[in-house]
This record gives sequence, C-alpha cells and structure tokens, in this order.
Amino acid sequence: MLELEKILNVMEQTVREAGKSLMDREQSRKIHQKGYADFVTEVDLHVQQLVCARLKEAFPEIQFMGEEKDNSDVDFTKAFWILDPVDGTSNLIHDMKMSAISLGLAVNRETVAGVIYQPYLDELFSAVKSGGAFLNGQPIHVSEPNQLSSCIIALGTSPYHHDLADQTFAAAKKVFLSSMDIRRSGSAALDLAYVAAGRVDGMFELILQPWDFAAGKIIVEEAGGAMTTIEGNSVSVTAPSGILATNGKIHTQLCQLLKG
Ligand code: IPD
Ligand code: CA
Ligand code: CA
Repeated sequence: MLELEKILNVMEQTVREAGKSLMDREQSRKIHQKGYADFVTEVDLHVQQLVCARLKEAFPEIQFMGEEKDNSDVDFTKAFWILDPVDGTSNLIHDMKMSAISLGLAVNRETVAGVIYQPYLDELFSAVKSGGAFLNGQPIHVSEPNQLSSCIIALGTSPYHHDLADQTFAAAKKVFLSSMDIRRSGSAALDLAYVAAGRVDGMFELILQPWDFAAGKIIVEEAGGAMTTIEGNSVSVTAPSGILATNGKIHTQLCQLLKG
C-alpha cells in the first residue's frame, strides 16, 4: 500500500504538469486525421511524450501503453501504464473544455492505481486498490438511487464504430425512456469519474479501448460502484470492451435493459 501511495503521488504530479499542455489552445489547432472522425492533435502527442518521459524517469522498469503509440511490444504479464493523453479529443478541437488525461497502472492485468485529470476545472480523480477513491484528496462515493427511473445515465456513441450506431441509439432510447435523462459528455474517462463522484448514476458505451476505461475502472470500484461489460461479465484492461459502470444498485436493472 505504501508503495502504491508513492506511485500515485508521481502519477498525480505528472498529470497535473501535463494538464497545462492539454490546455494549450494553439497546439490543439494542429490537427492530424487518424481515421473517419478520428483525429489527433499536437496536444495528444505532447502530453503522451511528457507523461511517458516522467514515468520512465521515476519507474524505468514499468512498461508503457499509450493510445498514440504502437503497443504490440507490451507484455501484459508484467506491470504497465495505460495512458489516454487526451480523452475527449473532439471536445478539445472544439474548445469545449471537457477533456481529461486518464492514466492507470496495471499489474497482473488488473488496474491497481488510476488518475483522471480534468485540467480546466482542476479536478483530479484518483484511487489505489483497497484505498478508496478521491477527488482532489477528498473521498468520493457513487450515488444512492436504486431505481433507474430516478437516475441520470451518461452514454458514449462509439464514434469510430458507425456499424454500432443502430444498437447504440436503440439502447439510448430505451435508457432514456426508463431513466430521468441521458447525457453525452464526449469523454468516457470523465463519464467514469462522474459515476465515481455520484454526479451521474451510470454510464455505458458499446466499445471502448483499455486507455479509455483502465483508470476509471479502479476509481469507480473504489468509490463503491460496479463496472462490467454490457453483458455483465468482468472487464479486461488488455482488450477493447463494451463498458457498463454504475453505482452498483442499478447495475442489474440497467444490464437487463441493455441486453433485452
Ligand atoms: C473517445 C471519448 C468518447 C468516446 C469514444 C472515445 P478519444 O476518446 O472517450 O467519449 O465516445 O469512444 O474513443 O478519442 O477522445 O480519446
Ligand atoms: Ca479516449
Ligand atoms: Ca485520446
């Protein structure tokens, strides 16, 4: 635990430093296209390079997995960082001030520490295994509602998988009609942080990458919530996955609704 707390300290310092680069408007205007509706900016590249350099300095033995690099060399049987340098790149490009850095540490294919930093509001969500979840050092907990009808549910549209659009919007309609309302933030990592902080009662997205949810997984779980695949199975941080995260109390109800 002591060691994990030390590691978390370095993670927090690193994302806070990188958060300044995330807010560099000039660099976010330098855009390259990766795929359909899929962009990367100079900010994504710079944040990844900075975080990678800081972590290598402090913990040279830990491998590095990041969205903006080829990760085929990562040995999942050993410890590795999982970084999304900018979660919410389309928000960043549109200057919506709703993006975050998401950094997890996986050991034995499980996240054991995670931080999600939203620099515009200076909000740092964090957790280590068995240590609880925090926002800027203050404990956070998932929300109380146990009926979907009184819940707000965030969802992601899997924008790089248009083949899932029918399924996504059918699910969105069902959830909308059974809940208080739905939300679409543009950052899966922040959706997860908001579940942990009790700001939304649940979130789902039909396909996400490990860097979108690795840090969020431990933060949600340590805040008392639950995260599974859409079908209700356990989530691996080494592969893309559908994600359903909730306050725990509505998990079965929401899972049944999404499956049905
Ligand atoms: C995306 C965001 C978005 C989600 C996508 C992700 P990116 O990450 O989290 O909310 O709907 O599925 O890929 O591309 O901004 O890092
Ligand atoms: Ca992402
Ligand atoms: Ca990203």
